[in-house]
Amino acid sequence: TLPPAVEALIAQMTVEEKAGQVTLMAAAWAGGAATALNPAGAASSFEGQLAEVRAGRLGGVFNGNGAVMARRMQTVAMREARLKIPLIFAADVIHGLRTVFPVPLAEAASFDPELARRTARAAGAEAAASGIDWTFAPMVDVARDARWGRGVEGAGEDVLLGRVMAAARVRGFQGDRGLAAPDAVAACAKHFAAYGAGEGGLDYNSVDVSERTLREVYFPPFESAFAAGAPTTMASFNEIAGVPATANEWLLTEVLRREWGFDGLVVSDYTGDEELIAHGFAADAREATRLAFMAGVDMSMQSAFYIKHLPGLVAAGEVPMARLDQAVRRVLALKVQLGLFDDPFRRIDSKREKARVRTPATLALAQEAGARSIVMLKNDGVLPLPTTGKKIALIGPFAGGQHDLIGPWNVYGTDAEAVDLEMGVRAIVRDAASVSVTAGSGIDDALPGGIDAAVVAARAADVVVLAIGESQRMSGEAQSRVDVVVPAAQVALAQAVAATGKPVVVLLRTGRALALTEPVLGASAILVTWFLGSRDGPAIADVLFGRVGPSARLPVSFPYATGQEPYHYDHKSTGRPNPPGPLAEYKAHYREFPNQARFAFGHGLTYGTIDYAALDLGSARMSADTPLVARATIRNSGARAAEEVVQLYVHDVTASITQPVRLLKAFQRVSLAPGEAKQVSFTLRRADLLFVGQDLKPVVEPGRFRVWIAPSAQADGVSGEFVLA
Ligand code: IFM
Repeated sequence: TLPPAVEALIAQMTVEEKAGQVTLMAAAWAGGAATALNPAGAASSFEGQLAEVRAGRLGGVFNGNGAVMARRMQTVAMREARLKIPLIFAADVIHGLRTVFPVPLAEAASFDPELARRTARAAGAEAAASGIDWTFAPMVDVARDARWGRGVEGAGEDVLLGRVMAAARVRGFQGDRGLAAPDAVAACAKHFAAYGAGEGGLDYNSVDVSERTLREVYFPPFESAFAAGAPTTMASFNEIAGVPATANEWLLTEVLRREWGFDGLVVSDYTGDEELIAHGFAADAREATRLAFMAGVDMSMQSAFYIKHLPGLVAAGEVPMARLDQAVRRVLALKVQLGLFDDPFRRIDSKREKARVRTPATLALAQEAGARSIVMLKNDGVLPLPTTGKKIALIGPFAGGQHDLIGPWNVYGTDAEAVDLEMGVRAIVRDAASVSVTAGSGIDDALPGGIDAAVVAARAADVVVLAIGESQRMSGEAQSRVDVVVPAAQVALAQAVAATGKPVVVLLRTGRALALTEPVLGASAILVTWFLGSRDGPAIADVLFGRVGPSARLPVSFPYATGQEPYHYDHKSTGRPNPPGPLAEYKAHYREFPNQARFAFGHGLTYGTIDYAALDLGSARMSADTPLVARATIRNSGARAAEEVVQLYVHDVTASITQPVRLLKAFQRVSLAPGEAKQVSFTLRRADLLFVGQDLKPVVEPGRFRVWIAPSAQADGVSGEFVLA
C-alpha cells in the first residue's frame, strides 16, 4: 500500500500523466560528462526531454550523466510539473560505475559470494552518490553456451553458483539499511527469462526449452534475487516457445505474480515492446503496447510506446484503467521505497559524487576482487615468478597500452582510468631494464614485423608472459561468436614465441569460455585473467608474483571445441555413456573428443599441492529429519599457502526424471598453510535433493545417491554413496 498522499496523486492524474509514469527513456543530457551511451549530444534534445518532464509525460530516465544532470531534471519535475512526482534515475551499473570491478563472470569465478556482495555494495554506493536510484543489475541469466556474448555479465553455467551470486549482488547493491538509504540503489534481476538459452548461442534468438528446464535451470537465480529483496525485474528480449517474454502472460503474470507472489515492478528491456512487431507477434505499435502491458510489463523502456498508445487504448476500453493504475502504483511504490517522495534529491549531490567515486578503498577492493577472480588452469612450477633476477618479456596485444581492461557493459568507467599489465608488473619489478613490452600482434590481425619483434624479445628474456585473448568488444551484447577460440593472428604469435623454447606464461583475456588449442595448451602456465576492471594490471601482477595465490575456479566449462556447445558439466548421462562389448563404439561422444570439458567447471589450481582423502559419510543414510554430514580431509602438501574451493557434487542414481551426471550442491573456501590438513564438512538435507518432477512440482525420491567432494566437476576427489530413506 502506498502512503495516502501518494495514493491521492493517482486520483488526480490524467491518463496521460499515468502513461508518463510508466515511461522510461534514455537520458538526453547534452552537458556534463559524456559516456559511451550518451556522448554529448544536441542541447535541444535535452530541452525536449525537460519539456516532457514538465508535462508529466516521463517517469524516469536511464544511463544519464551524473548529479548535475539529475539535479536539473529533478528540479523541473519538482518545481514545474503539475503533480511534482520525482523522477527515477536508472543506469546499467553492471560491474561498477567509475571504479570498475571484474566482469561478473570473473567475479563468479571467485566462488566467493561475500566478495560479490562487497563489490556490488561499493558499486551501489558510487552509483547512489552520482544521482542513480536504480541499477539494471544483477544479470542472473544462466549461460551454458559459450558462443553467447552476454554470458560475461552473469555467473556462468551453474544454477547453485547463479543463485548465490544473484542474492549476494542484490544484497550488495541495496545495502542493509533499506532502499531509502542515500547510498542504496534498487536492484533489477534481469533478463526474465531464459535469455541465455538462445538457439545457437545467438543473441536475441528464439528459446525453446521445456517448462521443466525453465523451472530447474533458468528460474532459480531469479527466485533467489527476489528472495534477497530485488524489487524489479526486466523482461527479456527472447521468445520462449513462440511467445516473446515481453508479451508472455504465463511468465510475467502467472508464474511471477500468482505463483511467486512478486509484487515489484517489471520493466521492458529497451525496445522489447516495439520488437514484438519484428517478432511477428504484434501487428503494430498499438497492439504491441497492449500485448506487453496486459501480459505484465509495467514500465516501457525507450520505445515511448506506452506514452503514445496507452491513453488511446484506455479510452477505447482495450486496457482497463485498473491495470494502468496498478502499473503506476508499482512505479510509485518503488519511488516511495527509494525515499524519493521524502527527498527527491537524496542521491543527487555533486560534492558527494566527487568524494565517493574512485576512492582508494574502492580501487583497493577492485584489485582484491581482480586477484581473487583469476583462474590458474595449469602451472608446471614456473609460477609464481620471482620479482628480481629474471628478465621478463611481456608479449601480446594485451601486454600494455591501457585498452580492453574494464570489459564489456561499463557505461561510466574508462580504460584510460584503469591500470594495465605493464604498469602492474613494473610497480612490482622495480628494475625497469628487466621488463620488456612487445605487442607482437594485433587482436585480430597480424602487426607488420610484430612476430619478429616478439621473437627477439622472447629470446632476450628468461620467461615470456604472453597476454592474448579476446578484446572487450568480442563479448557482451550482440557479440556472439561462431568459434570460441583465440584469434588466429594471436595463435601465430604464440607459436613463434613457443618455438623460442622459453618458458611461457599465458594470460588469457576473455569474457567467455574458450576452446584452447596448441601452443597455448603447451605453455608452462595458463592464467585466465578475464577483464578485471580498474586495477586489472596490479591484480594480475599480484598473482603472477605470488603476492596473492590464485584461488578462483571456472564458472563455465572450457570445451575441447566450439562444436560441443552448449556444453555444461551437469548434462545427462544418455542411454549410451559407455556401452559394453560390441556397442562400445556406439556411445555418446564426438569422433574427435570425449564428451567432457577440456578444463572442467570448478577447475582451478593454487600455488599449493592439494590432496583429497578420507571421505566420511557417517551412516550414509539420510531421512526427512536426519541430514547427511559429508566430511573429507583436504591437505596442502605443497610449500606455499593455498585457498582451495572444495566442492560437493551429487548424482541421483535413479529417479522418475533423469538427473544430471553431477550437480553442485555446496562449496567452501578453505585456507591451508603449507603442510596443513583440515577436515571439511558439508551438511546435506533432503531439500537439497529436490528436483522438478513429472507433474512440474518439486519432488524428492528415496533411493541411492552418489556424492563427490572434489576440486572440480570432472575430478574424482573422494566419492561414495548414501541412501535417502
Ligand atoms: O539493461 C540493458 C539490458 O541489459 C540490455 N538492453 C538495454 C538495457 C538498458 O541499457
